Amino acid sequence: MKPVKRPYELRQLLVCTNLRDPSTGKSSCGQNGAQPILEYLKKTVKERGLKGKVIVTKSGCLDICPDHGCIVGFQPEAEFFHAECTSEEADALLTRLTAGL
Ligand code: FES
Repeated sequence: MKPVKRPYELRQLLVCTNLRDPSTGKSSCGQNGAQPILEYLKKTVKERGLKGKVIVTKSGCLDICPDHGCIVGFQPEAEFFHAECTSEEADALLTRLTAGL
């Protein structure tokens, strides 16, 4: 195995869509509306012409499980955000994270 590099600089938004069994009594991003936000972010990245600069991918649990909303990670900065899973908040987050790209 050897490391590989992307041919261009790429930012990555990781949206936790982990869906935990409700019987555990612990909330999860998937229960809190993360999947629609993942789809919204993918669509919005394309609409804003950020394809090739930003990729939106789903992730499993990032181990910051919120009681409400979902966790979005940003790479390579390794920043994590607690979002309320609304399109308004997703828009604001995308604007903040892609300023200057
Ligand atoms: S379930 Fe999303 S961070 Fe754990």
